[in-house]
Amino acid sequence: MCGIVGYIGDEEATPVLINALKKLEYRGYDSAGIAVIGDGKLSVRKAKGAIKFLEQRIATEIIRGSVGIGHTRWATHGEPSDVNSHPHTDVAGKIAVVHNGIIENHAKLRAFLESHGVAFRSQTDTEVVAHLIDFHYNGDLLQAVLETLKRIEGSYALSVVCESSPDRIVAVRKDAPLVIGVGKGENLIASDVPPLLEYTRDVYYPNDLEVAVVYRDRVEFYDADGDPIEKTTTHVEWDISAAEKGGYEHFMLKEIHEQPKALADTLRARIKTYATKSINLEEIGFDASWAEANRVVITACGTAWHAGVVGKYAFERFARIPVDVDIASEYRYRNPIFDPKDIFIIISQSGETADTLAAMRMARSGGARIIAITNAVGSTLAREADLVMYTWAGPEIAVASTKAFTTQLMCVYLIALQFGALRGTISSEDLARHIDELEALPAQAEKILAEKETIQRFAARNFNKSKAFFMGRLFDYAISLESALKLKEISYTHSEAFAAGELKHGPIALVDETTLIVAICTQRELFDKMDSNIKEVKARGATVLVITYEGETHFDKTADEIFRIPAAPDALTPMLSVIPSQLYAYYCSVLRGLDPDKPRNLAKSVTVE
Ligand code: G6P
Repeated sequence: MCGIVGYIGDEEATPVLINALKKLEYRGYDSAGIAVIGDGKLSVRKAKGAIKFLEQRIATEIIRGSVGIGHTRWATHGEPSDVNSHPHTDVAGKIAVVHNGIIENHAKLRAFLESHGVAFRSQTDTEVVAHLIDFHYNGDLLQAVLETLKRIEGSYALSVVCESSPDRIVAVRKDAPLVIGVGKGENLIASDVPPLLEYTRDVYYPNDLEVAVVYRDRVEFYDADGDPIEKTTTHVEWDISAAEKGGYEHFMLKEIHEQPKALADTLRARIKTYATKSINLEEIGFDASWAEANRVVITACGTAWHAGVVGKYAFERFARIPVDVDIASEYRYRNPIFDPKDIFIIISQSGETADTLAAMRMARSGGARIIAITNAVGSTLAREADLVMYTWAGPEIAVASTKAFTTQLMCVYLIALQFGALRGTISSEDLARHIDELEALPAQAEKILAEKETIQRFAARNFNKSKAFFMGRLFDYAISLESALKLKEISYTHSEAFAAGELKHGPIALVDETTLIVAICTQRELFDKMDSNIKEVKARGATVLVITYEGETHFDKTADEIFRIPAAPDALTPMLSVIPSQLYAYYCSVLRGLDPDKPRNLAKSVTVE
C-alpha cells in the first residue's frame, strides 16, 4: 500500500519522480522520498507527510541526475517520520531501495546484519533490504539483488539504485504490484499505470520474482536464478485524462459522476443485441460448464465484499443456486469446506488485496474454479484466476470506492443472470427483459446525479449528527452496509448498518434524538415492514431519511425526508440506491472540512495483512 516509482533517461529525474509520486499518493501519504544519482553521487531527500513537503525540501536542497527512484508511504513498520521514510540506504549511502510490502523475517535479518556491525537508522522492515544488498554486493547489482531475494520473506515490490552502477535500476516484485513503462530513450517504474501514461503506453507487467534490470534504452528480465527471460509489452488503452480530476473538486465526486458511463461501458460489451437479447460472456471463457456448479462462493474485502453480499441475493433470485459470501480475511483462516464443484467469485477493485489473494489461492488449492471481478488489468488477481471479468470503471483514485462498486455489481448481475439462463431458472424472454432493465440503469443513475443538490442540502442539515444508521431489507440491507461504510470512511461519523428486521434485537437501544436513520426502501413487498421500523425509530426521536422510488407514497406520512430514485425492478435497484448514500457521505465529508479523497488511516489498496 505504498507507491514506488523509478526513472532512467535523459531528463532530470527529480521532477519526473515527483510527478509520478503525486499520481500514486492514493497508495499512501504518510511520507515521501526520492534517491537520485547525478555526477557519480547518490543523494536522498525525504520528508514526513504529503508529497508537497518533499517538494519544499527539494526546492532548497536541489538534487540533479537522470536516474532515480521514489516512494510514497503508508506506514506499516515504524511511525510516519523523516527517518522511516523511503528510500533507505546501506551504511555508506551508496545503495538506495524503495519498497512496497512487508519483509516478514526482517527482525531475524536485522539481528544478523547487526551482528555484522550494521547500524540501523530506522524502525522499518525495508532497511534490511538495503543492507543485505550491500552485504552481497561485489560490483554486480543484479547478483546482489538475487542473493538478497533468497533471504527475504514476505511481499514486496522493490526498486534499487546503486552509485557505482548509475546506468540501471533493478526492480522486482513478489505479491505486490509493479509495472515498467517503456519510453523512447527513457524507462519508468511504478506501482500502477497512471504515473506512466504521460510518458508511455507500452508497459511490462513482471510476474513474481522476475527481476527487471532497467536501462535508459532497454529492459532486461531475469528469473530468480539469474537466467535471462523474454517478456513482451502490453499496450495500455487508458486515457490519461481519466486519471485526472476533470474539473471536479475531488476525485470522489468525479468518480461518482462517472458511474453512468462506467455502468454502460461494463454492460455494453457483454450484451448480444441480435434477435432476442442475451448475455455474451464467451469473451471471458464462461461456458455452460461453469453453471453446473453446486454452489457459488464469493469472497472479497471492504466495498468489494458488499458487492458480494448483493451478489448472494442476485444469484439466489435469478439462478436458484446456494451462495456463500465471505469476508476474505475470515475465509482464509476458518478452514472452509470445499466441494470441487464450487465456483468462486473473487471481487477486488485493485486485484492486489492481500487477504483476497490469499482466499483465492486457498480456493485454487482446494480445486475450485475461479472467476475474478477486478478493475485492474494485469493485476495479480487477474493473472491468477481462471476467468476474469473486468469492470470497465477506469482508474479509481479516491480511496473510498464508488464507481468500482457499482460496476462490480453490474458484473455480478451479468454472471448471475447468465447462470440463471444456463440453468434454466430464467426464460430467454425474462433474460431479455432484465437486459433492457440493466440498459436503462445508466440513464437512471444520471437522473439521480442531477438531483445531487437535494442530498447536499440534506447533508447540510444533518452532517453534525453524531450517529447515522442505515437500515433495509434484502438488497437494501446489502446497500445499507455499503452506505454506512462510505459515511464512516470519509466523514468519520459513527455509522452502522443493520437488517431492518434486527432493529428490535439491539440497535434500537442506541436510537435517540441525536440519531440519523437512513431507511433504504426499494423492496416493494416489504414496504409495510419498513414503515413499521421507521415508526419505531421515529418514536425514539430519530430523524429519518427514506430512499425510495419516484411516485411512491408509502412513506409520505412517516419519513422526515424522502429522496426518490427512478423506479426500477427491486432486484436491480442496488446500482441506483447506493448513489444517494455515496453523495451523502461525500457532502458530509466536505462539510466537516475533510478531504474525502484521502481519509485518515485508510489506503486505497491494502496489499499487506
Ligand atoms: C481498502 C479500500 C476499500 C476497498 C478494500 C478492498 O480497504 O480502502 O475501498 O473496498 O480495500 O479493496 P479491493 O481493491 O480488493 O477491492
